Amino acid sequence: MMAHQITLIPGDGIGPEVADATVRAVDATGVATEWERVDAGARALAEYGQLIPDEVFASLEITRVGLKGPTATPIGGGHQSINVALRKKLGLYVNFRPVRMLPGLKTRFSDLPLNLAIFRENTEDLYSGLEHEVIPGVVESLKIITEKASTKIARASFEYARRENRSKVTAIHKANIMKLSDGLFLKCCRQVASEYPEIQYNELIVDNACMQLVMRPETFDLLVMPNLYGDIISDLAAGLVGGLGIVPGANIGDHHAIFEAVHGTAPDIAGKGLANPTALMQSAVLMLAHLGERDAAARLQNAIHKTYAAAEHLTFDVGGKASTSEFTDAVIAQM
Ligand code: NAI
Repeated sequence: MMAHQITLIPGDGIGPEVADATVRAVDATGVATEWERVDAGARALAEYGQLIPDEVFASLEITRVGLKGPTATPIGGGHQSINVALRKKLGLYVNFRPVRMLPGLKTRFSDLPLNLAIFRENTEDLYSGLEHEVIPGVVESLKIITEKASTKIARASFEYARRENRSKVTAIHKANIMKLSDGLFLKCCRQVASEYPEIQYNELIVDNACMQLVMRPETFDLLVMPNLYGDIISDLAAGLVGGLGIVPGANIGDHHAIFEAVHGTAPDIAGKGLANPTALMQSAVLMLAHLGERDAAARLQNAIHKTYAAAEHLTFDVGGKASTSEFTDAVIAQM
């Protein structure tokens, strides 16, 4: 059996803790892996003077698949986000986040059968990084929406809906105000929707979508949206199912894919063995499926579900007392 070569970017803060836990869990599935560990982020900057050392791209060029922990981005100045740079450079135009309830986990919404799929455009919008000062006291940030990127994310979402037997796609926008940019995004979504007549298509303005997601989250199925709304709505949706420690994510392009959790570096708990690795483990479930290892993906997902259902070894963010490694041991024992 050929081993899968995977680029591992542990990242900053709790990144190395959740990355080590996830590597242990993936290897426990029995799938043959060859992890190529490379640094990006604050640690890489300190050690090599580069935020994303060339070896990160060199490794991804060969492996085409990465598993990534969170990396720190300074607020209001400093360097560009590493995630934004990786997504742009590798053309990872799809950001996919499945949002599901974990068995037994009590949240404000746990009596609802939530199973949402969020598709966020990942390369443009207000994340273009094009900002400048027009005159002192006035700055401009450019929101870029293109027909090409909007059509690609719309098509990725409808293809997924068809493949996974999803019944409804909702496009989220603010085209009542941003008539040209979000208007173009909607036009592309409508065009693609017309090619998938079996899938119901509707549109919601983003502010209304936020309210509906809190009041009636079970009425949503698949949501597709530009970058900024996707960033915010996917965190809102994470809150419905137990928070940031839970929800996985995938950044997918035509040639590369990087799997990562939705959460950040959690500096408040870093280095204390308290981090919940579920989000990165569930990202690894997506990665295994992407690698064609569907059985291993199902085994890891089931083991995570059983660990939550037993509720004996959960981390503190979801009401338990277990450390990162105790939770990981429990998942591996379930496998
Ligand atoms: P954060 O997600 O790091 O933390 C928010 C809260 O959630 C904190 O109280 C933290 O302890 C908790 N939390 C997050 N993940 C957890 C986990 N796995 N287990 C238990 N508790 C967890 O968000 P924040 O504080 O806004 O950002 C901190 C840094 O992370 C910033 O530098 C930011 O730029 C970066 N970041 C990186 C991301 C990435 O690389 N994908 C995504 C989001 C933020």
